[in-house]
Amino acid sequence: MKKDNLERARKRIDQLREYVQLHNYQYYILDDPVITDSEYDQLFRELLELEEKHPELVTPDSPTRKVGAPPLDAFQPVAHRLPMLSLDNCFSLDELREFDERARKILHSRDEVTYIAEPKFDGAAVELIYESGRLVTGSTRGDGFTGEDVTLNLRTVRTIPLVLGAKGAKPRKKYFPQVVFPDGRSSDLPHMIRSLLEKDFRVPPRIEVRGEVIIQREDFHTLNLAREERGESFLANPRNAAAGSLRQLDSRITAERPLDFYAYGIGEAERVDWKTQGEILAGLFLLGFKVNPYISRCRGVGEVQTYYEAMSRARDELPYEIDGIVVKVDDLSLQRRLGIKTRSPRWAIAYKFSPHQAVTRVLDIQAQVGRTGVLTPVARLEPVPVGGVEVSRASLHNQDEVERKDVRIGDTVVVQRAGDVIPEVVRVLPEKRTGKEKRFRMPGKCPVCSSSVVRLPGEVAYRCANFSCPAQIKERIVHFASKNGMDIDGLGDKLVSQLVDQELVKDVSDLYRLEESRIASLERMADKSARNLVEALEKSKSRGLERVLYALGIRHVGEHLARALASAYPDMGKLMSASLEELTEIVHGRESPAIQ
Ligand code: IVH
Repeated sequence: MKKDNLERARKRIDQLREYVQLHNYQYYILDDPVITDSEYDQLFRELLELEEKHPELVTPDSPTRKVGAPPLDAFQPVAHRLPMLSLDNCFSLDELREFDERARKILHSRDEVTYIAEPKFDGAAVELIYESGRLVTGSTRGDGFTGEDVTLNLRTVRTIPLVLGAKGAKPRKKYFPQVVFPDGRSSDLPHMIRSLLEKDFRVPPRIEVRGEVIIQREDFHTLNLAREERGESFLANPRNAAAGSLRQLDSRITAERPLDFYAYGIGEAERVDWKTQGEILAGLFLLGFKVNPYISRCRGVGEVQTYYEAMSRARDELPYEIDGIVVKVDDLSLQRRLGIKTRSPRWAIAYKFSPHQAVTRVLDIQAQVGRTGVLTPVARLEPVPVGGVEVSRASLHNQDEVERKDVRIGDTVVVQRAGDVIPEVVRVLPEKRTGKEKRFRMPGKCPVCSSSVVRLPGEVAYRCANFSCPAQIKERIVHFASKNGMDIDGLGDKLVSQLVDQELVKDVSDLYRLEESRIASLERMADKSARNLVEALEKSKSRGLERVLYALGIRHVGEHLARALASAYPDMGKLMSASLEELTEIVHGRESPAIQ
């Protein structure tokens, strides 16, 4: 009888895992969920409950394991069977030509070589080993020969499949990664996938998959905002954030980081007969990985250059950072003939973009007050064009950063703009110092409301302690009205400033008491805009509890927790009367990777 029960549970668990895997795939890889969030949550919860009841049926590749595992004492070394090579760099068409000529000389080829050109991600390289279609080991690149075993951390990454070629997850044609390049050409990936599908396609018994763990720009920004709110240190860039997240001994922390993974290569692989880099990319896609659609098959250096120029234009619009392109000889038998040097292959090269950097002078350093009262030092710069955009301010993040980089007022500095990330000061040119530079000190009083500034124990941030500080009020309202908050069209920072300065609005509830005629009487405000704003405010009333909770900007309540709270409580009243125990449970329960 009991055995029967267990058998039934096992069957149901298998079935649920398959469903959850399939829907994870639809959601995270194909970006096209086919069931609602709550349907997914239900499946996921049923699986969790069954696994809790039958811990002997839990396996490391169950989709419920994406939440992380108990902390490790240290990472174990993992030797790569094939070294993870690095790439030589080049920075100009001439240097690219030299690379191409060297290759053709070795190959005794007069004809143009066919290359695959791909974006060069700026993240952390890893290797994933799959045996019988299951993820068994994941490691960092390390020194190229030996990396660290970060399997538990990699298992938490949403876009790293725990099981390859999940049943039912056969991608249909409409999902083949497709993009149109700025010059009008389209990606070569879909037809590579189609032709690979014509051959017999199977999950290999053993395969080493290589690729890059990255954090998308927007996720990086959100992550840093949340860290700022908690008074934690600032993560300098998405690459450091990705690498740092992978090196957490507690994988539950990694699970909370918005990591993403793109596959671009393989190490050793059994029973695969992919003959070109194009087939490798297509094959990786068919196994269930995300593959960058901005792939181009190029004949000769000329076409590579066209792709390079197209990508350097597309660069700022991509949701993740790239710092160049990687050019690889397509034909794997030619790759073998070309071979490797000590550390890098002769069949590939990184063609880097010119960095969006410029040299300018720091005119002043001012403390800017944020939504939670945190004071951020901002450098006012002599305006300078950086990659086509004029830059006159750069964030210095916090006092520790100012000291670490030793930036002083009057210094000559290198500034950098990375996509839509706020420009930043990369380094000081100390040789340009005259001795007249002045060090910045965080003011003891808030520059906006003159209240005292405090630094809480254990935090790097200095804060203005006055909740009614006009700067904080403005930022809170801007956050409230933002796209992911209440999405109030037309309520931008200039208008918020006017409303707060005129004392029409002291907190968010005042917004809903604003009268159209009063708004219209503000400077530079037309009747029509006033009417539109009132309508937008009205519309925002139907956004639902989850959005309100996030929009209020309560410390520690980000979008995830807001969702968890809203699904646990039907209304604000019930939530406000919740006990500490109840809330604690929700905060700890939120680590489930329910669709976000
Ligand atoms: S192929 C020998 N492809 O660049 C082939 N690497 O400097 C090397 N990278 O450690 C890997 N995007 O982290 C390859 N599309 C791409 C890449 C890429 C970024 C990184 C990778 C590697 C480094 C080599």
